[in-house]
Amino acid sequence: MKMLIMGAPGSGKGTQADALTGILGVPAISTGAMLRSAIAAQTETGKKAQQYIAEGKLVPDDVMIDLVLDRLNEKDCEGGYMLDGFPRTLAQAEAMDKAGIEVDLVVVMEASEETIMRRLSGRRICSCGATYHTFFKPSSKGEFCEVCGKRLEIREDDKPETIKKRLKIYYSQTAPVVEYYRKKGILITVESERGVDEVTREVLKALGRG
Ligand code: AP5
Repeated sequence: MKMLIMGAPGSGKGTQADALTGILGVPAISTGAMLRSAIAAQTETGKKAQQYIAEGKLVPDDVMIDLVLDRLNEKDCEGGYMLDGFPRTLAQAEAMDKAGIEVDLVVVMEASEETIMRRLSGRRICSCGATYHTFFKPSSKGEFCEVCGKRLEIREDDKPETIKKRLKIYYSQTAPVVEYYRKKGILITVESERGVDEVTREVLKALGRG
């Protein structure tokens, strides 16, 4: 299975990618998580991306295309992959096609702006990669991570004004990519307003695995 998970910020892409990776047996590759790791390690890519992410802007296409094409060349992607957060511009989608990167299916998560704001304003993350939500998925250790015990953080780009900027960019730059795949006839949409498990079941049903 070579698939993409698309959707606005906070629509639940990362949450569903984490839930589906084990079930489908393909690696979940989140470009947002890759960039956050690169920033934490202060790699060249991390240094280039840092300011864009903090301001809620997209990281330039050339940086993203190199990063993702390199990652897809790794051995664990030979049997398939689930890309979360790439492509986000038409230039990125076209670069994938040009590089011969196949896509069998695109799943678009749909949630209202009200849901998105509620999800992102309550999101808490840990540097180990774990994600929580103050209401929907609180850590049993309060402000600390259940997995590694570190103090949880608020993502820098989850400030209300930055969320609004990210949403605007999604509608102007990423919505055309959704149309690009719709025209290819490989796109399905999944309503992501319900609880995490229900949404996972919905995606699996849409994939014919329900
Ligand atoms: P990225 O990390 O991909 O951010 P995003 O697309 O804005 O998406 P989010 O991670 O905010 O949301 P999500 O849909 O994954 O929701 P989640 O499952 O976490 O990218 C960050 C930045 O990196 C970008 O802004 C950009 O700068 C840069 N970047 C990345 N890729 C790029 C690219 N290709 N080109 C250029 N720049 C790029 O859920 C959110 C919260 O809601 C969580 O707390 C979760 O627990 C909760 N939740 C999820 N689902 C449910 C549910 N069903 N019910 C209740 N709670 C739920």
